[in-house]
Amino acid sequence: MPPYALPIWEEPREKSSDARARGVRGGREGPERFYRTGPGPPAPMSALLEVKDVVTAYGKIEALKGVSLQVEQGSITCLLGPNGAGKTTLMMTTAGILRPRSGSIRFAGKEIAGAAPHRIVELGAALVPENRLVFPSMTVLENLQAGAYQRNDRGGIDEDIERLFERFPRLKERAAQHGGTLSGGEQQMLSVARALMSRPKLMLMDEPSLGLAPLVVEEIFRIIAQLHKDGTTIFLVEQNAHMALTVAHHFYLIEQGKVTFSGDPGSLAEDEVIRRAYLGSAKA
Ligand SMILES: Nc1ncnc2c1ncn2[C@@H]1O[C@H](COP(=O)(O)OP(=O)(O)O)[C@@H](O)[C@H]1O
Ligand SMILES: [Mg+2]
Repeated sequence: MPPYALPIWEEPREKSSDARARGVRGGREGPERFYRTGPGPPAPMSALLEVKDVVTAYGKIEALKGVSLQVEQGSITCLLGPNGAGKTTLMMTTAGILRPRSGSIRFAGKEIAGAAPHRIVELGAALVPENRLVFPSMTVLENLQAGAYQRNDRGGIDEDIERLFERFPRLKERAAQHGGTLSGGEQQMLSVARALMSRPKLMLMDEPSLGLAPLVVEEIFRIIAQLHKDGTTIFLVEQNAHMALTVAHHFYLIEQGKVTFSGDPGSLAEDEVIRRAYLGSAKA
């Protein structure tokens, strides 16, 4: 099966009139009724994250060739694109793990391009990295505590862990287990929960559905929708464009290190964008 194969949805389709009544777009493939948490971010919108002309290189290879985009406060904004397009590079550059060669990244009104990762976490942006990257030989509880490393309010940290255990009962059951012994879906939940321990305004999520079974993917997207409902802005990288477009308010397509398209789900070019997100395009 190719890596971009779509999950098989078994949810019943919703009548588009019902969808319209709730302010969502009807008629799209997929379990839309579970996910979209509202008609979109409240107007007027303002950018929580503003990326401008960012160039990031690995040695001589420029992975980002002048990327500009915005993530509006209160939105779920999705970055689509084929393998190798530069999605992870952009996430890591935003999180401060990679230093851009040039360009500007403004978060909550402050310039953060080249700032240290811990500083960016303190400002309120948390990364849920590609492939989850939980600490395998630390327990679930220790993984969560690690997510609060920049905080020193012991009581608040314990309260947050309790709250996350309520939200993710399976993590509570496995609190004393090593991260490496969890299933892929549980590791993804732990990775999300660990990021939440920093109380972020913005979650940078790099392919949270990668390699997970369809039912687990559905659960991850439900979690994303809930986080958004709770007030967190979400910048989501996905190869699963069909799924991503059920939650996103706005999307960008990145190909070969450049943003080549941006729009709202439902726009005329959506099918073409989805095709290119999976397959890439010859021209960039
Ligand atoms: N550590 C690295 N060293 C050299 N090249 C890299 C490294 N990581 C990624 N690249 C290259 O940068 C480009 C973008 O990669 P990446 O950001 O991981 O893409 P995506 O997440 O969209 O699949 C690719 O051409 C990839 O081969
Ligand atoms: Mg990637």
